[in-house]
Amino acid sequence: MLAQIKEFEPAIASGAHDALASQGKHIRPALLALSGLSAGGINEDMVRVAVIIEMIHLATLVHDDVLDEADLRRGQPTLRAGWGNEVSVLLGDCLCAHAVKMAASFPTPEVCRAVATAMQAVCTGEIVQIQQRTNFNLTRAEYFHVLGLKTGALFALSTEQGASLAGAPPAIRNALHQFGMTIGVAYQVYDDCLDLYGNESTSGKSLGSDLASGKITLPILIALEKANEFGLNKFQALLHPWHSSSLPEVMEILERCDALCESQRVIHQHLLGARSNLAQLPSNQGRAALNRFVDFLSQQTDGLGGSRT
Ligand code: IPE
Ligand code: IPE
Ligand code: MG
Ligand code: MG
Repeated sequence: MLAQIKEFEPAIASGAHDALASQGKHIRPALLALSGLSAGGINEDMVRVAVIIEMIHLATLVHDDVLDEADLRRGQPTLRAGWGNEVSVLLGDCLCAHAVKMAASFPTPEVCRAVATAMQAVCTGEIVQIQQRTNFNLTRAEYFHVLGLKTGALFALSTEQGASLAGAPPAIRNALHQFGMTIGVAYQVYDDCLDLYGNESTSGKSLGSDLASGKITLPILIALEKANEFGLNKFQALLHPWHSSSLPEVMEILERCDALCESQRVIHQHLLGARSNLAQLPSNQGRAALNRFVDFLSQQTDGLGGSRT
């Protein structure tokens, strides 16, 4: 990925470096590689597609930090904190364009089409999420639909491309696509819980911004569903307009509604679904590693709430 920076104009190479060099967890490239391994073996094309997907992921984070007004990511100031919103929007576009250019260099249009489709899904998810801010009538189905678009699509692209580039038959590709989608949605629910129950120094990113921006995430949705007993109107008035001084009271309501426990249950349900997707794959080292990835997310989920700031 760092080698790609050479292809940017000198004027923006250092911004591109800031965006690309900061160490993320590389979940999507790892899932692509392990999916490839489970479907037949890793090859050089997979490395290229993994770079494309991680670059798109980074571009969406650069844009997402503008939308969420976030100043900390991966323990470092965000691009928008250092370079401002204007440059960040355009640099995110440059990264996306570069990724599409790389995708277009494959002999067939299949990779490029799949990459562009996933990018469109991510943007659509972020737009619908903005439209749903402070919509207290949001249903779980609507919430999960947005998660599938904004996060599931890029996970599913990674796992499906692993299968496809390994030359796997359609049944294996479908199982891995479904696995990526399910694990991606589970990961976003986990991340939404992190925003309320996590710790900025361990997660390395600005937290608490979901409440401030009126995002209705699963714990809030659960409390809204159960709110009759505790006074729906009062809870909504606490959420909007938002004042940070309302946080202790909101957390107390979430606690009374068992919102964390119920959210953890929902994540585990998705993880179970992801395991059944993996059960359709041949038993090998790649599948075992993907199952361990699910184990790890399951452990992280159980640890939520243990390190609240
Ligand atoms: C952050 O994704 C955005 C979400 C989908 C929750 P990651 O947690 O994969 O971000 P990095 O790349 O590891 O920082
Ligand atoms: C994920 O949503 C962003 C994208 C999928 C583009 P969040 O806004 O929750 O991600 P973080 O918490 O900032 O990493
Ligand atoms: Mg964000
Ligand atoms: Mg988040």
